[in-house]
Amino acid sequence: MSSGRKLIIHGGRRIEGEIAVQGAKNSALPILAAAVMCKGRCEIYNCPALSDCDAACRILTSLGCACRREESCVCTDASAVGRNEISEKLMREMRSSIIFMGALLGRCGQCRMSFPGGCEIGSRPIDFHLDAFRRMGTKIHEEHGYIVCTADKLRGAKISFPVPSVGATENVMLAAVLADGTTEIHNAAREPEICDLAGFLTACGAKINGAGTGTVTIEGVRKLSGCSYTVMPDRIAAATYLCCGAITRGEILLTHCDHGSLVPVTAVLEQTGCSIYSFGSDSVYLNARKTLKAPGVIRTAPYPGFPTDAQPPLMALCTTLPGTSMFVETIFENRYRHVSELTRLGAKIKVEGQVAVVEGVNRLSGAELEAGDLRGGAAMVTAALFAEGVTKIGHTCYISRGYEDIEGCLKSVGADIRTA
Ligand code: UD1
Repeated sequence: MSSGRKLIIHGGRRIEGEIAVQGAKNSALPILAAAVMCKGRCEIYNCPALSDCDAACRILTSLGCACRREESCVCTDASAVGRNEISEKLMREMRSSIIFMGALLGRCGQCRMSFPGGCEIGSRPIDFHLDAFRRMGTKIHEEHGYIVCTADKLRGAKISFPVPSVGATENVMLAAVLADGTTEIHNAAREPEICDLAGFLTACGAKINGAGTGTVTIEGVRKLSGCSYTVMPDRIAAATYLCCGAITRGEILLTHCDHGSLVPVTAVLEQTGCSIYSFGSDSVYLNARKTLKAPGVIRTAPYPGFPTDAQPPLMALCTTLPGTSMFVETIFENRYRHVSELTRLGAKIKVEGQVAVVEGVNRLSGAELEAGDLRGGAAMVTAALFAEGVTKIGHTCYISRGYEDIEGCLKSVGADIRTA
């Protein structure tokens, strides 16, 4: 999908069928960054074909790392990495490019990169990252919009984050695996993607304990080798498709997903009245062919709380559920940008600071919308599946940052969706 094209959705069709969930964007990106530290060939399977992953591959290539995709597998070889600077153009392409800072510090002891791209869902500061790198012996200064980091000897340190940050936890893990001595991260993020990154690094020879808990300990090693690794399933794409099934009062079977990491979302969907069953650890079935109701208060929180990334599609569902739902967004300060667009479809939502109150309505009607961020765009797609008539969604480039062929996936389960 190019940015000039629109998703055109004719709502009102019940979704029924099966979707194989893509690999996790938020795991693939730090794993691709980690590959820059490996002296040897890495085969990264289940790497989703997304514009953000393409941008990460372009960064790797620009650093001198061989990188090519064969279907869902990205093969890298960083033996010849010789550069440690990322251009402003490449930094702007992907917001999470800051994750290359830890990897380059680990690999080269220095790096130069501009501040990551502008604001999408909030100010997204990087002070936790920079403070931690300073504690590990890095000198940091700014010149002409670039951040310049130099560490003669990167050393392990005790780091404690004021609040758990996914990106900062990952960045410190990356730098720490090749640092001298032991690093302890306290108040670390516990997201499943942290465990996935630790799994990849461990397969390359790193020594990491406690990933997935609030304290992660990393003992530095001298080198990382290559490995074959399969990226975990994308729990946010899975959550979005469950919301799509629920809003059309349909039935959906997700395969290739990780039921355990979806529980914070499936628990709320069960509160709405959906029936959810898991088969083994990798399939989840949702049945919404019944009367649903508003789930009450949903508060986003670090894992294992309700994920902020699933808040927009869940809100889209709640606009159609009888009763009042209340959302409290505690992670990002600008995460209700989809609200004005959902209102154009006839949704009743009031926002006051970090709180959004949704009064369920019986009917939404199609309109012209514009995505302003990735998950907000996914909320618009979700709502459009319910809305009577045609909804056209512009700025779809935001959506393709995180969803691999959302059009094909939804079409395969009966949605009337096309790009034009
Ligand atoms: C990651 C995810 C994103 C998700 C978010 C929260 C990736 C690529 N992105 O983003 O999809 O929505 O986690 O689950 O994995 N903070 C600071 N200073 C910092 C870093 C963070 O104040 O240096 C604050 C942020 O403003 C935010 C909170 O910490 O309020 C958590 O953000 P963080 O977990 O760092 O989000 P990201 O890693 O950017």
